[in-house]
Amino acid sequence: MDNRVIIFDTTLRDGEQALTASLSVHEKLQIAQAIERLGADIIEAGFPVSSPGDFQSVQQIAKTVKNSIVCGLSRAVEADIKACADALKVADQFRIHTFISTSDVHVQQKLRKGFDDVEAMAINAIKYARKFTDDVEFSCEDAGRTPIDNLCRMVENAIKAGATTVNIPDTVGYTIPNEFGGIITQLFNRVPNIDQAVISVHCHNDLGLAVANSISAVQVGARQIECTINGIGERAGNCSLEEVAMIIKTRQDFLGVHTNINHQEIARSSKLVSQLCNMPVQPNKAIVGSNAFSHSSGIHQDGMLKAANTYEIMTPESVGIAKTKLNLTSRSGRHVIKHRMESLGYQESDYHLDELYDDFLALADKKGQVFDDDLEALLFNIQQQEEK
Ligand code: KIV
Ligand code: ZN
Repeated sequence: MDNRVIIFDTTLRDGEQALTASLSVHEKLQIAQAIERLGADIIEAGFPVSSPGDFQSVQQIAKTVKNSIVCGLSRAVEADIKACADALKVADQFRIHTFISTSDVHVQQKLRKGFDDVEAMAINAIKYARKFTDDVEFSCEDAGRTPIDNLCRMVENAIKAGATTVNIPDTVGYTIPNEFGGIITQLFNRVPNIDQAVISVHCHNDLGLAVANSISAVQVGARQIECTINGIGERAGNCSLEEVAMIIKTRQDFLGVHTNINHQEIARSSKLVSQLCNMPVQPNKAIVGSNAFSHSSGIHQDGMLKAANTYEIMTPESVGIAKTKLNLTSRSGRHVIKHRMESLGYQESDYHLDELYDDFLALADKKGQVFDDDLEALLFNIQQQEEK
């Protein structure tokens, strides 16, 4: 089995769907170019039939992006697929992604159909999409809640109809890692033609498990992960691109797979998406949060000054962040104060560490974080008093 995991970025489709204010064509193009620089294999650029603006941006992205395959989403109906093909045909190579629900609740309550009808629609849609491109992805919407016999049947028939990638979404973020991995394992064990398609996963984060579920699926053979920058998306969002990319890189020893992601582009892409989408990143978000590489307690700071891998399992530079931050707070010890004074250009002979440290602690207790300017002001005050 190929040990490369394909990264399918859906920031501009599933991510954008959740924004309150829509992005302009120019803004979408900026994000698409950032995703291309990031090295995502596939960029899902939008849902062309949904609006003229979406059609135009998918077309513009298909014209501009050269190093990632551009993809558009369509329901399992010919008009949607035709709109996708029309928007994407300017690209040398493109993917049509078509989907239909397969869970009982969606088939019966949302679509008000039977499973046989839905299966027939899926097969027609895939065959129709294949008239425009050899690269057709089919998704079983709400696969996480689909009875396994139905899911196996749908996957087998989708591959027979010509789907080259079959995507298994946990649309409502309902499953837990062993369970989701178990669904993928059953597909590999029971679908006879499974090796003729790439098995993809698309996990939502309603229970905070989107990344864990995606990794669990990769461990049992899935080879495409659908994700978004900063994990933006419907409700609690989608699987976060930066998290899966860094898990796969950092734990390659255990997982034995890799991606084509240019990890050093991660921080920059995250900032761009956060700014353009007007969605701040929480400070403690893994990989890209402002605290992801900052250390506050004295014990951790002392460890970091001795060896960076005491408390960091990856370097900030590896994701495009300039450096580790050691926050000066009342939990900081003398070692970090001495180190900071050195980096500000002061020799040990310029000040009394104990005296400065006492003043530092008094200030930190009052104001929380102490900055370099504060430290220099404390030193200045001590020197002034000594001169009196
Ligand atoms: O969550 C989902 O099921 C989707 C599909 C359209 C792939 O976004
Ligand atoms: Zn989704």
